[in-house]
Amino acid sequence: MNRVISFLLSLLMGASAMAASTNEKDIFAVETRDVGYYFTVNARGQVLQQYMGKKINSLNDFKYMKDYGYDRIRLQDRELYTTFGTGNVDLPALQVKHADGNLTTQLVLSEVEKKQLSADVIQTTIKLKDNFYPFYVDVVFLAHQASNVIETYTIIRHQESGAVVVRKAVSSNISVTADRYYLTHFYGEWSQEMTEVEEELNLGVKTIESQKGVRTSTSEHPTFFLSLNAPATETEGEVILGSLAWSGNYKLQFQYDAVNKMYVQSGMNDFMSDYVLKAGESFETPKFIYTYSDQGKGQASRNFHKWARDYGYYGGREIRPVVLNSWEGAYFNFDEKTILNMIDDAATMGVEMFVLDDGWFGNKYPRDNDKQGLGDWAINKKKLPNGLKPFADRCKEKGMQFGIWVEPEMINLKSELAEKHPEWIMRSPNREDLFLRNQLDLDLSNPQVQDFCFDVVDKTLTETPGITYVKWDENRHVENFGSTYLPAQQQSELWIKYVQGLNKVYERLRAKYPNVIFQACASGGGRSDYGTMKYHNEFWASDNTDAESRVKINWGFSNIYPANAIASHVSHVPNHQTKRVIPIKFRFDVAMAQRLGLELQPRKLDSTETAWMHLAVPEFKKIRETVQLGELYRLLSPYKGITTAKMYVSENKEKAVLFTYLLDHPSRGKLSFVKLQGLDPNKQYRLSEVLPKDQDQTKWKKSASGKVSKVVCKANGEILSGAYLMNVGLTLELKYKYDSFVLALEEVK
Ligand code: DGJ
Repeated sequence: MNRVISFLLSLLMGASAMAASTNEKDIFAVETRDVGYYFTVNARGQVLQQYMGKKINSLNDFKYMKDYGYDRIRLQDRELYTTFGTGNVDLPALQVKHADGNLTTQLVLSEVEKKQLSADVIQTTIKLKDNFYPFYVDVVFLAHQASNVIETYTIIRHQESGAVVVRKAVSSNISVTADRYYLTHFYGEWSQEMTEVEEELNLGVKTIESQKGVRTSTSEHPTFFLSLNAPATETEGEVILGSLAWSGNYKLQFQYDAVNKMYVQSGMNDFMSDYVLKAGESFETPKFIYTYSDQGKGQASRNFHKWARDYGYYGGREIRPVVLNSWEGAYFNFDEKTILNMIDDAATMGVEMFVLDDGWFGNKYPRDNDKQGLGDWAINKKKLPNGLKPFADRCKEKGMQFGIWVEPEMINLKSELAEKHPEWIMRSPNREDLFLRNQLDLDLSNPQVQDFCFDVVDKTLTETPGITYVKWDENRHVENFGSTYLPAQQQSELWIKYVQGLNKVYERLRAKYPNVIFQACASGGGRSDYGTMKYHNEFWASDNTDAESRVKINWGFSNIYPANAIASHVSHVPNHQTKRVIPIKFRFDVAMAQRLGLELQPRKLDSTETAWMHLAVPEFKKIRETVQLGELYRLLSPYKGITTAKMYVSENKEKAVLFTYLLDHPSRGKLSFVKLQGLDPNKQYRLSEVLPKDQDQTKWKKSASGKVSKVVCKANGEILSGAYLMNVGLTLELKYKYDSFVLALEEVK
């Protein structure tokens, strides 16, 4: 076996250094504080996965597993990065056509390299090479010690005599063993994103994928929980939480085989995606992010949140301004006065950021509806003769910030851009154009289109100084496929090159505008993957602003995102999407459990709603830090009962906020009940309801049926221990549909 294992370890390296100290060349591990992933190398030099789960502190114990003397992969062995044609008959992680046309690959270990990137991150690169061709695969792991999250990706290179075609290259290929497997995944549709479903997996292959190109997460999110042996609850059970950081086609596959093993493959979708890789070039897969918890889904989510605040999205440790977004309040129908009035009204309510949505641009084809103007990013002179400056100025005057909506990747055929650059449009040659919302995609594989998209934002921000927030929208998926930029034999690269091109645009914008808040939006939460979020501060979770729907949608997103990344807005009733009429208190209580915003025309609120806003926004600000920066504990699932509850606890456990909502009429006399989590059992907490104090409180709580709840929590005002709250719990006197209450807890010293 021709291989060298070199461990480049810094002195800091702690537990992982054990790999070196065992002096054992053929056993090594990727480890975080509590999670470990262990590998051995067989006689052929193939890297085999032995175990992934709770950390095993004695690496040497894997010695007896390392090689049974077999010179081939046994049925029970699972290769780290499976290939085709050299023994593996399960799902291959990698499929390539070598320069000479050979479709087979056999990867053997050449080196394991470890680097301490920071006090928190250890990078392990498992360097593999084909045992015949000059073809190389690096499987890279970034092990985050504090959060127990591992990021993994693969880099492929070669020095063959001609181009290699990469047909499939996954980001991760984890093998686990259990008696039973339960998959929780998140399907959806427009206005119904991130809907949770759990199923037991059976023998065979379960696939979750997107072939929609650029809107990753409208229908299925590239995220899952895999529970081992039994369905994990929020507090109990072994579970893997994983998410693919990629804004294009993806495929998650779960292969349950006859010897009870489960292969979990996560990566870009190999659907029509052959990629021509020239000698000397490298192909990098997106990152797959995962964690393991033996204390249920709640801990897995908290691991993700901890990781994400530092590495997953922008400004993870910042509290977010209260936003008023103009869309549902004005749609396309506004002029300068409408918007100035909205800003003035918003200011009186304590709003901190005003965002002007769609409709502000286009001159030859004014963007007065969604049929025209997309692509023409000059301010509409008729609608806004003084440009955007008056809005930026008025916001500043009122102590607020100003933000703007853009959709740079898209085009209406009725636009000056389409007349000038028809070749920039993604189209299927010799086929008719298929429109979604009257628009087509631009071809982001083309560097000129990338420059154009960068300029859309750059020019908008430079022309009107003072814009500090950009809502980047994207309102269709790919149905017309074809690029005039890519050569005929590389058309299948469009799926990948589009996303790479988009990421280049984001990188340039982020380099120039590190402090601007970027919101990711794609007809709601259609682009809420961690590939997108690497460049954004938050995402618009759904166009569905109905509070009842949002309880579930926000719950779904909370599985992988902290509250300050999830934009949730209070809107008008009847709700524009569902026509439901929900009391203002419930609407507000739902939205303020995330990044609070308003999506309305202040002048169309009734007097009760207006009074509520004036009182409630300042109340929210008092608990905002705990909500947006605290640790999440999901208590009662909206998927399991009519009372739902979740809470946030500050890191030092001195403060917490409990949110509870009643989603339907309970049977007579049945009161909801909840045990709190995450508190310090030895601390005493003062409980106070978060609600305007100087008003007739009952009017806020008028339910859909017109009934009014007078008492919702008897414990309001009490001082109770963490031990009592977590073990005895609280009775919630939520009586009527859409009753809700929010309870702030503060340590009494
Ligand atoms: C879809 C978004 O999800 C909405 O919030 C809004 O920005 C519209 N597009 C504007 O066209």
